[in-house]
Amino acid sequence: MITIKDKTFVPFIPAKAIQERIQELATQINEEYADKQPLIVVVLNGAFLFAADLAKQLTISCEITFIRVASYEATESSGQVKQILGLNESIEGRDLIVIEDIVDTGLTLHQVCAQLREKGPASIAIATLLFKPSALKEKLDLQYVGFEIENRFVLGYGLDYDGLGRNTQDILVLK
Ligand code: XMP
Ligand code: MG
Repeated sequence: MITIKDKTFVPFIPAKAIQERIQELATQINEEYADKQPLIVVVLNGAFLFAADLAKQLTISCEITFIRVASYEATESSGQVKQILGLNESIEGRDLIVIEDIVDTGLTLHQVCAQLREKGPASIAIATLLFKPSALKEKLDLQYVGFEIENRFVLGYGLDYDGLGRNTQDILVLK
């Protein structure tokens, strides 16, 4: 159990289960990208531990790069626009694997993938550790999903509450 500020989090997915599932996802990626050389695009900050543990299990030839997604209010629209920061590589003709910690509403990845697609990659696949199907608002093709979970707030193993709690081996859930 962890308490951060006013919130208490209880055990949810233990470290061993996370690592076993990551090994399964890596095996799948190793098979499906055996004859390719993908560019792995890690969405910071939340995906940093998932990406590190997954990457250590990949035996394929691949490049790994890191992006951030910044939200800003467009002047003429009230909607939140997500801007990609840090992508310096040319992605034209590349096979991309986008690594995320969690797909909740799917709005972030929907916008990120739309912007990536404009730059002409050969393919885009998504690998997310967690997926909340009941929260999804945008249609999204998810090729690699670690765990489908119910619509509750989770923490740990990269995921934070107000910047805190990323540094655990287990995933916890709000009590
Ligand atoms: P969307 O809704 O765009 O979510 O799919 C994108 C980002 O929201 C954060 N998020 C969470 N962070 N526990 C967290 O610590 C959660 O339960 C949670 N749900 C969404 C996360 O940064 C994700 O990339
Ligand atoms: Mg995130």
